[in-house]
Amino acid sequence: MAQQPKYKRILLKLSGEALAGENKVGLDIPTVTEICKSIKKCADVGTQIGIVVGGGNYWRGRSSDSMDRVRADHIGMLATAMNALAVADVLEGLGCEVRVQTAIEMKQIAEPYIRQKALRHFEKGRIVIFGCGTGSPFFSTDSAAALRAAEINADILLKATMVDGVYDKDPNMYADAVKYDTLTLREVLALGLKVMDSAAAAMCSDNNTPILVFDLRRPDNIFDAVMGEKVGTVVS
Ligand code: GTP
Repeated sequence: MAQQPKYKRILLKLSGEALAGENKVGLDIPTVTEICKSIKKCADVGTQIGIVVGGGNYWRGRSSDSMDRVRADHIGMLATAMNALAVADVLEGLGCEVRVQTAIEMKQIAEPYIRQKALRHFEKGRIVIFGCGTGSPFFSTDSAAALRAAEINADILLKATMVDGVYDKDPNMYADAVKYDTLTLREVLALGLKVMDSAAAAMCSDNNTPILVFDLRRPDNIFDAVMGEKVGTVVS
């Protein structure tokens, strides 16, 4: 019998930095391709996939203290739209069917975000990439991931990071840092652990969306996570 995925529908959060590879800025297409190959394997076993992309490889916060926060966030949202198009292009090159939907209308470039249409795309086996975050300033793309995960009734939010899970302290600074295999969101908040910003964590908590924090430096972790292999830290 063919392999069965553990999760029927996922929301994958990719940070912008993850798409830049060693370059730290812009897009590194070989890196994006490795990530997309793992995503395709998930689609091939029948998992329905929504993706929220960050924009930090192009734009991070305000370029100066004098910059208006709302304007800075608008620039960040446009950065996520560029990443969404790039990831869509690579996935399509690998043979996936993909639709990009943006929270801010840019109809000449992508579909506007319409939940019902996204759900239809999933049913037809298409991957849907959600660009422009929540469409509102003052929210992170983590919040957008938590929001879309709740809206599409995702079984889990897969948060791809550059560490292999959640630790009691920074593993890059402390050799004795201990990794958690599982945590509750209440523990995350009580222990002050950094998993997502507080708005995103609250949204996942309110909607009972489990979060799997895992290391994207090994792109196949996406597929392994979907298949239920032990990777990263599950926060539920
Ligand atoms: P079905 O209705 O299930 O057949 O889905 P579909 O996405 O194939 O059909 P649709 O006719 O909605 O879209 C055809 C193509 O146009 C797809 O590549 C869509 O992503 C794209 N498309 C649909 N709406 C928009 C839009 O508002 N803006 C842009 N730029 N593309 C769109």
